[in-house]
Amino acid sequence: MHSANDITLELDDEAATLACGERLASILVSGLNIYLHGDLGAGKTTFVRGVLHGLGHIGKVKSPTYTLVEYYVVSRYNVYHFDLYRFIDEEEWNAAGFRDYFNPQSICMIEWPEKAAHILPEPDIHVQLSPFNAGRKIQFSAGSLLGKACLEKF
Ligand SMILES: Nc1ncnc2c1ncn2[C@@H]1O[C@H](COP(=O)(O)OP(=O)(O)O)[C@@H](O)[C@H]1O
Ligand SMILES: [Mg+2]
Repeated sequence: MHSANDITLELDDEAATLACGERLASILVSGLNIYLHGDLGAGKTTFVRGVLHGLGHIGKVKSPTYTLVEYYVVSRYNVYHFDLYRFIDEEEWNAAGFRDYFNPQSICMIEWPEKAAHILPEPDIHVQLSPFNAGRKIQFSAGSLLGKACLEKF
């Protein structure tokens, strides 16, 4: 998961996490599948909030803790924000029709991808958030050529 092309940044406070998400929004293309790694409270949902605001979403970004997914139509993209912390099994995945959300017209951002590792499509971009001093450290790495091309513009 780590390579010479990794990008690492320090985020001093919540505003920095939001701004970093907004900055990623400016280089996103449809079809991207983004995995968000990090413990509870690492800042994953905050980061997604920044991305959605950057794409032009006005209004709330709810954490999909109980619903597993929240859906947004914004700036010509279909954006699916998953939180799979409470994900149970493949049957649930099929019944909910989640498979259809992964298509060339959508952008998927997934918290806790580890919980559904065996059924999730491969990621184009990995985002890792971790505690660092009083703030956070964020690390981006590419999982595909599409993701690599995006991160080169970051
Ligand atoms: N760079 C940062 N420095 C300090 N606190 C942060 C930073 N980014 C986010 N936070 C705070 O971390 C808390 C948890 O964030 P959240 O996005 O809900 O985490 P997660 O989705 O990973 O569980 C929030 O109170 C948020 O304000
Ligand atoms: Mg969260």
